[in-house]
Amino acid sequence: MNKINWAIATTLTVSLISMTGVALSSNKSDENSLFSWFKQSKSDIESIESQLYVEECGSCHFSYQPGLLPATSWETIANNLDDHFGENAELTEGDLKTLRNYLLNNAAGRSNYNLPNKIMAAQDDRPLPLRITEMRYFIHEHSEIPKRMTQDNPKVKSFSNCDSCHQSAKQGLYDEHDVAIPGYGRWDD
Ligand code: HEC
Ligand code: HEC
Repeated sequence: MNKINWAIATTLTVSLISMTGVALSSNKSDENSLFSWFKQSKSDIESIESQLYVEECGSCHFSYQPGLLPATSWETIANNLDDHFGENAELTEGDLKTLRNYLLNNAAGRSNYNLPNKIMAAQDDRPLPLRITEMRYFIHEHSEIPKRMTQDNPKVKSFSNCDSCHQSAKQGLYDEHDVAIPGYGRWDD
């Protein structure tokens, strides 16, 4: 082994030892954090686990992960479903209660995933909009995409249709290398 390989091997060994240390000292809450660490490395955001949510909130558009918006925004959305961006999206009392809890419990600022944390950090103490597409982080990340690929693209129509461009949006994966714009193909920076 040359010098560099030795350095890599040593680093790997040291990190393995420290990881074992974490695993050995594990009580219930450590186990959870270790588990969530592995989960986090897979997706940017918690993927949807509520069938009711997909049925009720995914019938007109993509089922947005709760971690894409802060709790205040979800609360306002849930309280005004009879006038939901010009549509009536009212729910039965029971379903509303279940889905409101689901949204609030997993909202950005309350779920410890990479993407929600970045969204909240970028917003800082600016006002919180009702739309994901109006959050500062979203606007910043999409500022280089021309109109002909989005609003003027009949296969996309609106930035609200996340899954028309993000191939793995349903799995909570929004990596910029996993984007293909309909009619234009893969996105290359
Ligand atoms: C009857 C159809 C319908 C249903 C059901 C519905 N929505 Fe919507 N929703 C809309 C429309 C229309 C828009 C605006 C889309 C646009 O501007 O392109 C919208 C927009 C949104 C947005 C903003 C997206 C953006 O642009 O950032 C969120 C968030 C949202 N809906 C959440 C929900 C939730 C949560 C539910 C379930 C409680 C739900 N919707 C159910 C029709 C619906
Ligand atoms: C018209 C296609 C399109 C739509 C629709 C779209 N995106 Fe994107 N998105 C992109 C492209 C392209 C990039 C990479 C931009 C760049 O690198 O400059 C991107 C970047 C991102 C990033 C940053 C990824 C990274 O690796 O840093 C996130 C997060 C994201 N989008 C989330 C969303 C969400 C959530 C929605 C729906 C509310 C959405 N996008 C709708 C095309 C789209």
